[in-house]
Amino acid sequence: MEGIVRAAAGDLRSIAPADEPALVDLYLEQTGPSLGFLMTLMGQGRCQGWTLAPAGRPVAAIWFSLIDAEAELLDIRVHQSSRNRGLGRQLLSLGLRTLAGMGARTCHLEVRRSNAVAQRLYQHCGFVESGCRRDYYRSGQTREDAILMTLDMEAAVADEYSGD
Ligand SMILES: CC(C)(COP(=O)(O)OP(=O)(O)OC[C@H]1O[C@@H](n2cnc3c(N)ncnc32)[C@H](O)[C@@H]1OP(=O)(O)O)[C@@H](O)C(=O)NCCC(=O)NCCS
Repeated sequence: MEGIVRAAAGDLRSIAPADEPALVDLYLEQTGPSLGFLMTLMGQGRCQGWTLAPAGRPVAAIWFSLIDAEAELLDIRVHQSSRNRGLGRQLLSLGLRTLAGMGARTCHLEVRRSNAVAQRLYQHCGFVESGCRRDYYRSGQTREDAILMTLDMEAAVADEYSGD
């Protein structure tokens, strides 16, 4: 996995059930939804996933649900060895464009208050904080707030092509 740091739009492809073994390396950390959970949702037709797979090897994955024009970002992750090199930004931006093409007009997400990198990524792509769920994440005695963020996709697309 080391050394794979760049990806192009052409490296984005839909995740299929047969991709599960190739994605396992991305889901070794015990944070966020598990790969099994996301694959089950996908099998039920309740979400879709895309992976950036330069040279056929997945280095990052993103999952959304889409109901009417409302999307929800369920998970994004970049392989640990390829982080902080712009792949998250690239994947989120490609994923949002794909969703916009499918009719999404708004995208929601929730993120742990402590996950400053993810919040920075979302802000970079135009998400704004829209709420907070107090103590939403619970593990043992530990409690953590969920920050809710929303992207107005119509405004984001307009900004992208405004030439600013
Ligand atoms: C969150 C995640 C997807 C970001 O992917 P990435 O490829 O590392 O992010 P990028 O390189 O595109 O950087 C995105 C922003 O975060 C900043 N950033 C990335 N890593 C950072 C670090 N270790 N420390 C400080 N800032 C960092 C970048 O500078 C960039 O900010 P900018 O747009 O203002 O320049 C990745 O860290 C990850 O997979 N984390 C584990 C899973 C997770 O937490 N997912 C989110 C669930 S809500």
